[in-house]
Amino acid sequence: MSTDVVEQVLADIPAERMPRHVGVIMDGNGRWASTRGEDRTVGHSRGADAVRRVVRASRRMGIEALTLFAFSSQNWDRPPAEVFHLMQLLRRYLFEERREILDNGIRLTTVGEVARLPLFVRLPLTELISASADNRGMNLCLALSYGGRETIIEATKQICREVSAGKLRLEDIDEDRFGGCLPSASLPPMDLLIRTSGERRVSNFFLWEIAYAELYFTETMWPDFGREDLTEAIVDYAARERRFGKTSVQVAEDADQREVVEECGEAPSLQKAESESESGSRTSHAHE
Ligand code: FPP
Repeated sequence: MSTDVVEQVLADIPAERMPRHVGVIMDGNGRWASTRGEDRTVGHSRGADAVRRVVRASRRMGIEALTLFAFSSQNWDRPPAEVFHLMQLLRRYLFEERREILDNGIRLTTVGEVARLPLFVRLPLTELISASADNRGMNLCLALSYGGRETIIEATKQICREVSAGKLRLEDIDEDRFGGCLPSASLPPMDLLIRTSGERRVSNFFLWEIAYAELYFTETMWPDFGREDLTEAIVDYAARERRFGKTSVQVAEDADQREVVEECGEAPSLQKAESESESGSRTSHAHE
């Protein structure tokens, strides 16, 4: 797809059909390298280039939040040399992309056990998080030393502590209260989850948050992933009907209602209620 075609394809997608929050499980770096007779670390380095491309493309597309699964809680079990290489890549990314992130209004955030990262990553990471904290453009969230089950356990502990301290009643625990204890609480709901490399797994990523996300799997290896691939994923997403447990008919009615609200500034049910009360007051005047 040429630049013009990508722009045109995206321009044809109505704003309400664009995902607000995209998550990516960046998979296939190792296989990409092996098939080329290279060391796995070469695949990760090319993967870091793909991160640069996708962050830039997402920002240009107006995506509100992009969460990248960069290092899982389980990735610590990889060979130490590979873990060290990934940490070095992260550090390099933070230094090299600092200007681009700040100049483009991107806010850097993280989810995961950042305290476990080596100091040589934590220092530039916390510095860029605070330097970009006031930015109001895209939220670039890096999932680092992250595990979905781990966050659910932490949230559960927090809720239990509040209950046993008498600050929270059992009957007040609901989805909002629980979701508010997760590190993703400040992000919009995840709309689209992309996984590269042909694997069809979620691998402990955003388990609670993807309850209603659309899942998109592509054969493309992460180091080859770019703007065109992201566009294809978004086009696929935009064509899906998101029902959230409702029927197709209800979804269509909801869309009609939204359209009326956009055109008139109020919901049809409100208009109806208002015109009924107006005619009611006219009737009562007539009786006077
Ligand atoms: C999974 O591929 C990928 C990772 C565990 C690391 C992802 C890291 C990067 C893309 C680069 C660094 C990140 C940033 C944000 C600069 P894999 O190695 O498991 O691939 P395989 O399944 O083919 O072995």
